[in-house]
Amino acid sequence: MRTARSRFRLPTALLLAATALLLTSCGWSLWDVPMTTVIPKSDFGKATHGLFMLISWWTLGIFIVVEGALVWACLRFREKPGQPIPSQVHGHTVLEVSWTIAFAVILLIIGIPTIRMIFKTQEPEAATALRVEVAGRQWWWEFTYPEYKFTTANEVHIPAGRQVAFYLHAPDVIHSFWMPQLGGKRDVVPGRINRLTLTADGPGEFPGQCAEYCGTSHANMRFRIVVHPKESFEQWVAGQQKPPAEPVGDLAQKGHEIFTQAACVGCHTIRGVSGGVMGPDLTHFASRKTLGANLMANTPENVAKWIENPGHMKPGALMPDLGMRGEQTKALAAYLTSLK
Ligand code: CUA
Repeated sequence: MRTARSRFRLPTALLLAATALLLTSCGWSLWDVPMTTVIPKSDFGKATHGLFMLISWWTLGIFIVVEGALVWACLRFREKPGQPIPSQVHGHTVLEVSWTIAFAVILLIIGIPTIRMIFKTQEPEAATALRVEVAGRQWWWEFTYPEYKFTTANEVHIPAGRQVAFYLHAPDVIHSFWMPQLGGKRDVVPGRINRLTLTADGPGEFPGQCAEYCGTSHANMRFRIVVHPKESFEQWVAGQQKPPAEPVGDLAQKGHEIFTQAACVGCHTIRGVSGGVMGPDLTHFASRKTLGANLMANTPENVAKWIENPGHMKPGALMPDLGMRGEQTKALAAYLTSLK
C-alpha cells in the first residue's frame, strides 16, 4: 500500500508544480486575453455567451451530482473484512425512468433557448443597419461600404450602438470571419453569401482572425475591428471618401511615379490613380495601423521590407517580388505611407 502511494505522489507533485509554474510565469489573467469570447462586447456576443454559460452551469451541476454519487457509493459500499457477498441487483426501473426524464428536461432547458437564438440571429437586419460587404481572400480581408461607396482592407470600422450587417463572401476558398469579443463567427463560403448582424456596445479596438484553415498563411489572415462613437465614425467615413492624398516631397513624388509605372497598378486600386482589384485597395493605406492583414505595424521600414520580400513576410502571398530594391522601395514606401 505504502509503495503504491509513494509511486503516485512524485508525478502528482511534479504535475502540480509544473502547472503552478506555467500559470505564474504566463501572468495569465482572464482580462488580458484579446481573443477571448467570454468578455462579450456586443448583443450577439452577450446572447451566445449567455447560452454558453447556461450549458456550462448545467453541465457543472451534472458533474457534481454524478461524481458526488460515485464517491459516496465507493465509500458507503466498499468491502469490509469478513463481509459476505452482497445481494446482486439487476436494474432499477424507478431510478432508470427518473434519470432519463431528468436529463430529457435538462436537454429541453438548454435546447429551447438555443433554437430560439438560432432563429433570432437569422432575423432580417434593421432598416437602419450599416451594411458592410466582407470578402475573405487568401490571405486578407476586404471591406466594402456600399452606402458610402468605398472599399478598405484588413481594418473594419463600425459605429457603436448601430446594428451592422456583415455580408460575407469568398472569391477563392472557405474562410471563417471571427471577431471573438464581438461574438461573431461565421463561415465565408465561395458561391454563397452568409450574413452576420450585431450591434457593438461601445468604442474599442478588437482583433479578428480567420478561423477556418484556408492555406499556407491562414494564421496570417488577421484583421482589426475599430468601434467608434457615432461622431468619430462619421469622421472616419468622410476621411475614407476623400480622394487620395497628393504626394508631398521628392521621395513620395518619385514613389508615386514608380507605382504608376510598375505592375503595382495591375493589382491595387488607388482611386484616381489605378484600378487593380487583385490586392487590397490602397487609397487610404496610411490610415491603417497595420500592414499585411495585421502582420506588422504600418511603418515605411516595414512597407519597404514587404515590397522587397512579400513571400518571406507572408508565405504563399500572391503579391510578387517585383525586384525593387533600395531607393526604389524607399520611395514607394514614402508614397504609400503618405496616403492618409
Ligand atoms: Cu482564411 Cu483561414
